[in-house]
Amino acid sequence: MENQVFVMDHPLIQHKLTFLRSKDTGSKEFRELVSEIGMLMCYEATRDLPLEDARIETPIGPATTKVIAGRKMAFIPILRAGLGMVDGVLALVPAAKVGHIGLYRDPKTLKPVEYYSKLPSDITERDVIVLDPMLATGGSAIDAIGIIKRSHPKSIKFMCIIAAPEGMKAFTEAHPDVPVYCAAMDKRLNDHGYIVPGLGDAGDRIFGTL
Ligand code: PRP
Ligand code: URA
Repeated sequence: MENQVFVMDHPLIQHKLTFLRSKDTGSKEFRELVSEIGMLMCYEATRDLPLEDARIETPIGPATTKVIAGRKMAFIPILRAGLGMVDGVLALVPAAKVGHIGLYRDPKTLKPVEYYSKLPSDITERDVIVLDPMLATGGSAIDAIGIIKRSHPKSIKFMCIIAAPEGMKAFTEAHPDVPVYCAAMDKRLNDHGYIVPGLGDAGDRIFGTL
């Protein structure tokens, strides 16, 4: 199956992304923007949730309306930077569970190193959205989704804010069955594996560890 890749060019997302990229944006505002963009992206990434009928009474009389059809969701941020998107997505889906995958990129090899994993015990019943602001070489997202697949969730989507073409190609080859949602596809990676123009180091900017 070919991946579905969605680049979300909604004006609100693109506007917030400009301030997110700017080196003049401090940690407080950066965190708020990551969370807000996460929320706006989640709105679109959940567009295909199935609905069912609900019978209710409005103050005027009975009505048949729609509710989400009992689907259970889980959000899984890739530590650290994915944590920045969690508040935003939970604002839209407060009943979702949150798992965590800890990976860091070795600065020399650029290969991801796993250091933590805690997934919901009922993950087989859940639709999972994996969160990480950056898809650079793709190594972290590819490994995180490989780890999650071993627990057999009902479905998996991947949501990032900025992707590099190199990472998107590697990801779609490794996981052709996983739809990808991003807010921007940038030009390329530099020699240190950073996305150009990108936004710098997402984890350091969120947590003020520059
Ligand atoms: C960043 C980012 C991704 C990864 C992307 O994390 O949040 O997880 O790099 O790079 P890749 O696509 O080349 O794997 P980092 O390793 O800097 O860890 P951190 O979030 O703890 O800062
Ligand atoms: N990780 C980041 O945080 N930023 C990049 O540009 C690449 C990897």
